[in-house]
Amino acid sequence: MNEIVISGTGLYTPPHVITNEELVESFNQYVDYVNQHNPEMMEPLLHSSSDFIIKASGIKSRYVMEKAGILDIHSMRPNVAKRNDDTHSVQCEMALLAAEEAFKNANILSHDIDMVIVACSNMERAYPAVSIEIQKALGIRGFAFDLNVACSSATFAIQTGMNALIANNAKGVLIVNPEICSAHLNFRDRDCHFIFGDACTAIVLQRKKDAISLRPYSILSTKLATDFSNNIRNNFGFLNICDADKRNAADLLFKQQGRKVFKEVVPMVADLLCNHLNISGIDAASLKRLWLHQANLSMNQLIAKKVLNREPSPMESPSIIHEYANTSSAGSIIAFHKFHDDLQSGDIGVLSSFGAGYSVGSIILRMN
Ligand code: COA
Repeated sequence: MNEIVISGTGLYTPPHVITNEELVESFNQYVDYVNQHNPEMMEPLLHSSSDFIIKASGIKSRYVMEKAGILDIHSMRPNVAKRNDDTHSVQCEMALLAAEEAFKNANILSHDIDMVIVACSNMERAYPAVSIEIQKALGIRGFAFDLNVACSSATFAIQTGMNALIANNAKGVLIVNPEICSAHLNFRDRDCHFIFGDACTAIVLQRKKDAISLRPYSILSTKLATDFSNNIRNNFGFLNICDADKRNAADLLFKQQGRKVFKEVVPMVADLLCNHLNISGIDAASLKRLWLHQANLSMNQLIAKKVLNREPSPMESPSIIHEYANTSSAGSIIAFHKFHDDLQSGDIGVLSSFGAGYSVGSIILRMN
């Protein structure tokens, strides 16, 4: 069988940082404003706190594509201007920058790619597919499509791309994860206003025999699972316009039952990872690294502990959540991108995603 490798990854980090302190200051101003102007409200809105955010999630800051609109209490959303149809979309621009770095790390040029997948939680438009726009911008001959499994989009795309390479449907695959999570986040909701940030990652997949990258990682096995849940939901969609009067802004943004997600997803992920390692004949104790989805620090510590059967060291399950917050499908790829250089030939690690759906992905990788 053709062995498939991740031959390079890239990361685009947006230009603006919002610290917890800045976010909380603006949120609390919004709360004071609403409470002052609505004295008849039965239950006044409550302040948010940076201490709570760090304790509950591990998040200290996030990167965003646009900052002023998010912090303006009369807007509380990123001011992302509408673009002309003949201008690159925002997601295309982010993806081109991430892809450039991935190509460099894979030691390839765009003509080595003939399949492009945009895999992320939110697409900027319904069609034409953003991936086809990126394909054109990179001068790639072949085919492209968009794929959305929320936070698990990247791992589902890795399995899809790998299968295309094995079946000889493609010679090189580019996967990009342009996540503009700030635009689906409800910055007026105290329960979740701190959760997300923006970023874009890129992944190059090739047959091992074609890869000339200095650090290719073989994909030993992949395993995906889904199980329907309404606990993370976003009702934004093309039918919204049909019954616009019954919709409110909050219904068209991210919402979740965070506690339930925590309780239900941790065992689902730990079971899937343990089972995947088991059927692949890999002893969890021998794992050098877990590149986990970055949604909540304690959640990751718990999953890593369940998989390794002991407390993980910070390097065994590296975290980027304090700096980036939850960047949906990009999170585990950022962790991989930033924390794989020290692995030795033969070392094995697992890349894993989890999130809305519910959806879980597990990719077992070996450093060549
Ligand atoms: N500032 C201060 N206090 C806050 C707050 C805020 N921003 N938001 C909530 N609180 C309060 C609550 O009102 C509650 O108070 P109470 O005990 O008096 O009722 C208390 O803090 C605990 O709230 P809870 O929602 O239970 O917090 P938590 O410890 O579960 O943490 C999450 C919340 C969202 C960080 C956590 O549940 C989580 O990360 N879950 C997993 C989410 C996830 O992975 N989602 C995937 C997204 S793709």
